[in-house]
Amino acid sequence: MEGLQLIATGGAQPSRVVTNDDLSRIVDTSDEWIVTRTGIRQRYFCSDEENAATLAIAAARQALERSGLSPEQIGCCVCATLSGPNATPSVACQVQRALGLPENRPALDVNAACSGFVYATAVARGLLLTLGGKYALVVGCEALSRLMDMTDRSTCVLFGDGAGAAIFRLADTPFAATLGARGSDAILTGGPNRAGSAPIQMDGRAVFRFAVEALPRCLHEVLDQTGKTLEDLDWVVCHQANGRILDHCIKHLNADPAKFYRNMDRHGNTSAASIPVALNEMAENGQLVPGQYLACIGFGGGLTWAGMLLQYKGANQ
Ligand code: COA
Repeated sequence: MEGLQLIATGGAQPSRVVTNDDLSRIVDTSDEWIVTRTGIRQRYFCSDEENAATLAIAAARQALERSGLSPEQIGCCVCATLSGPNATPSVACQVQRALGLPENRPALDVNAACSGFVYATAVARGLLLTLGGKYALVVGCEALSRLMDMTDRSTCVLFGDGAGAAIFRLADTPFAATLGARGSDAILTGGPNRAGSAPIQMDGRAVFRFAVEALPRCLHEVLDQTGKTLEDLDWVVCHQANGRILDHCIKHLNADPAKFYRNMDRHGNTSAASIPVALNEMAENGQLVPGQYLACIGFGGGLTWAGMLLQYKGANQ
């Protein structure tokens, strides 16, 4: 009983849609430049009333309802975010309170930037194995619009806000995870610090080079650990940073592009939220079918990278 299966998902998106044309009225950019370089057409930004925690609570509530579980059955709550509204209470503690999760169970936030959701899932599995419990609630949630310099066209066109949530079950099942980190503030940095809040800054070309090396490496590592091949996978759900990063990796892997889910055109890069938002869309659209195998691959600030391979089971399987 050492692997994790995905049994239910939930999602929440902010109310405000921001198109590329909207951004072109703020900075010197164009829909054509953004679509060509990134594949992004629009993103969602939080309103004044919304933040990473309100989105996380909505997504987590939906995932719990769809799982058919009671709050008492949730063994731990781990939220991946780098843009929570407060250092404390953590987003996870706010989710615990809102959903009435048991108080004798851990709730904590994990910051591994865009690798955060896979990191948080690995942490949740470790907590279940250490403390007991069968089900974990894992959320990825971001309000990156609060961390962006809206006068910097090289970053403000890339990021968006959102949340996705997943319920995992500990089970005898093929499962693999790989996590890594290389501390560096040279190519991607920003967010709250002691002096206040610094906007996200990035060396786009260096991030691109890092991403196209990390993504295939993580995918191969989880395939090797489980003895599976890319052909055995039904889906590869990557961090939705940029369509060109995916194109580059698909070509390098000689892979079927249809296996690589994409939704950055509608959401932009939502960091830790991007993989669970994608999983939730796939489940809602009927693209995720019980029994399917999928790999989830994250990469980003830190630098961090992370991959996992698991089975989708659905709530009633
Ligand atoms: N609109 C129009 N022009 C822009 C622009 C924008 N939003 N942002 C940058 N430019 C300009 C630059 O100023 C530069 O102009 P110059 O040649 O006159 O100096 C030109 O476009 C090329 O800039 P460059 O940064 O070299 O572009 P690029 O081809 O590397 O594309 C990214 C930029 C950011 C799209 C690309 O580097 C990338 O995808 N990087 C990965 C980013 C990412 O995914 N980060 C998150 C990872 S978790």
